[in-house]
Amino acid sequence: MTKMKMKRQTLILILIAIGINPDNAKSFQGHGPNLGYAVSSEEIAAWDTSVFPDGEGLPKGEGSAQSGEVLYKSRCIMCHGKNGLGTATGVQLAGAQLDLTSEYPEQTIGSYWPYATTLFDVIRRSMPMTAPGSLSDDEVYALTAYLLFLNNIIDEYEVMDASKLPKVRMPNEGGFINIYKIEETLR
Ligand code: HEC
Repeated sequence: MTKMKMKRQTLILILIAIGINPDNAKSFQGHGPNLGYAVSSEEIAAWDTSVFPDGEGLPKGEGSAQSGEVLYKSRCIMCHGKNGLGTATGVQLAGAQLDLTSEYPEQTIGSYWPYATTLFDVIRRSMPMTAPGSLSDDEVYALTAYLLFLNNIIDEYEVMDASKLPKVRMPNEGGFINIYKIEETLR
């Protein structure tokens, strides 16, 4: 391919990209390559759902394992099985029998996950797999509490919210190695 030919192809690609949504591009005229549109704060809020290990990003709301159990039975059990034990095709969430040093360790929430807050993030962001984003924050707290209860980490009546969830200590919290810290000590 000659140099000239490549340049022409690049130009065509840029023109196609600009042409994708000319109406929206207009509102951005004078700023950058005129692609996309100005995102509203509501749209950003819908995507800005990350919850960090220390609980930063947890929303208002609350729920206990008792209410979570009802939800689990209607929205999760078909894939994750009774008591979170998994199905033929579904992921096991509780009831690990083996420890992590065995040849085929069961990486359940109780045996593997270092932080309880990540559970809230994962459920709110991606579950139920067929309808992610359909659960209210109260429902996500309740399901988080139920899965912690199934893993024998909290009791059935404990209410989880933005201040209590980060305080839950997971059994395998100390089982992870921070490779960046190791690299620092080797330097
Ligand atoms: C249609 C089947 C389906 C339904 C319904 C479903 N899940 Fe899942 N879930 C999955 C699959 C498949 C994965 C594994 C996804 C992956 O590894 O990327 C998963 C992963 C998860 C995980 C992470 C497990 C891990 O160790 O990585 C959690 C927690 C979870 N689901 C909770 C729920 C909850 C709570 C509900 C009900 C609100 C639910 N799921 C409903 C199929 C489903």
